[in-house]
Amino acid sequence: MGAFQENFLWGGAVAANQCEGAWDEDGKGISTADCITAGAVDKEREYTRGVVEGRYYPSHDAIDFYHRYQEDIALFAEMGFKCFRTSINWTRIYPHGDETEPNEKGLQFYDDLFDECLRYGIEPVVTISHYETPYYLVEKIGSWRSREMIEHYLDFCRTIFKRYRNKVKYWMTFNEINVIILKPEIAAGLRLEEGENWDQMIYQSAHHMLVASAKAVKLGHEINPEFQIGMMMLYPTFYGETCHPLDQLKCMQAIDMHYLFSDVQVRGAYSRKAEKFFEQKGIRLQTEEGDWAALKKGTVDYIGFSYYNSNVASREMKKDMTAGNMLHTVKNPYLKTSDWGWTVDAVGLRLALNYLYDRYQIPLFVVENGLGAVDTVEKDGSIHDSYRISYLREHIEQMELAVEEDGVELMGYTPWGCIDLVSAGTGEMKKRYGFVYVDRDNEGNGTLQRSKKDSFEWYKKVIASNGACL
Ligand code: BG6
Repeated sequence: MGAFQENFLWGGAVAANQCEGAWDEDGKGISTADCITAGAVDKEREYTRGVVEGRYYPSHDAIDFYHRYQEDIALFAEMGFKCFRTSINWTRIYPHGDETEPNEKGLQFYDDLFDECLRYGIEPVVTISHYETPYYLVEKIGSWRSREMIEHYLDFCRTIFKRYRNKVKYWMTFNEINVIILKPEIAAGLRLEEGENWDQMIYQSAHHMLVASAKAVKLGHEINPEFQIGMMMLYPTFYGETCHPLDQLKCMQAIDMHYLFSDVQVRGAYSRKAEKFFEQKGIRLQTEEGDWAALKKGTVDYIGFSYYNSNVASREMKKDMTAGNMLHTVKNPYLKTSDWGWTVDAVGLRLALNYLYDRYQIPLFVVENGLGAVDTVEKDGSIHDSYRISYLREHIEQMELAVEEDGVELMGYTPWGCIDLVSAGTGEMKKRYGFVYVDRDNEGNGTLQRSKKDSFEWYKKVIASNGACL
């Protein structure tokens, strides 16, 4: 017997806004992702006020998954996927976010998509909100800084929980909920208004999201007790730069900022440390009486998390910095980096699994991991992505060790961008993660034709052998 349990959820992950395209078709409203322009490794993406004519928004067409999902799911089935993680684009269902009736065409699209998955025995794993807030609510009520968002989100949840109650078992309430402290525009459509206190606004918005998440968990379990509803966080494995105690303290503090979220979602309350942090920062959460009970009743069934790279914390401020997923931290001299400057650190994933499992003892699900790289299409159409295979192999080996030697409970693994898609960080197409190549470039040129990379056959064998054949 191998390390992974028999029903291990091997698959792949995407997000609606990064692959579907069809941004204004069949009644879909504008989401925040539709207002974020293309950037590059050295050029920040811009979050514009609505969709501005003449600007290029890569999510508008993305890889046209909306019209090509059948072909794509067939490829995932060929690789042997047991599950497929995607999100439901909120504005397909509620174009403005505050309607009383949902948009039937949007609902039908996800019915068709999930049916297609199930036809091949692929379990849909659904992120309810993956950086896709209705833009109308940003303008009208300031997005999550308003308490009203909780009800809008719950209306959305109620509709999709009921509609897909027999099609979807695995859910996650918010993608990388902790990213609100790093990139509030991307994560929650939040813009700082003049004179506003940044920390107050971020943590108030986060509180609304945490209450909404807890209420959604309870609601989902009422609608179908079989539902498995998880949280989802970006896990930023941190190292202290040296064994100097102050570097280690910095390291602990850096990660505590993120545990603030998982503590609430798994344990049902803010930690004492979080309360102290609010006090020190002068943050006063506006809460309602029912909030604490709601948080307690809505704890999650599992922890989904993304892991791409590790980070370094230092007691000294001025240091050589390096990029990473959503974070810029101190350079690690022991690690190689990707084309986008992210460290490659498979052991960091084993550590992440251990830290999370030791702290919470509930099942874990690695719902994002992978290498964003430039791929070259050879004259004969083949794509030799040995670098991607090495990255994934090393990370799976570390997951195996975490399960076999450390006793971590691991439900599954869905590498990010199983088909090439728009990068969330830079909006580029050339930053590719897929087993399946999509012919499209940064400017939106290309046939959108799909082709298999070498990693396609490799991953197929990994799944068929339940991880034994790497
Ligand atoms: C995660 C996000 O943070 O990282 C994804 O959940 C994103 O949406 C992924 O695409 C990889 O980041 P990037 O910037 O390479 O697309």
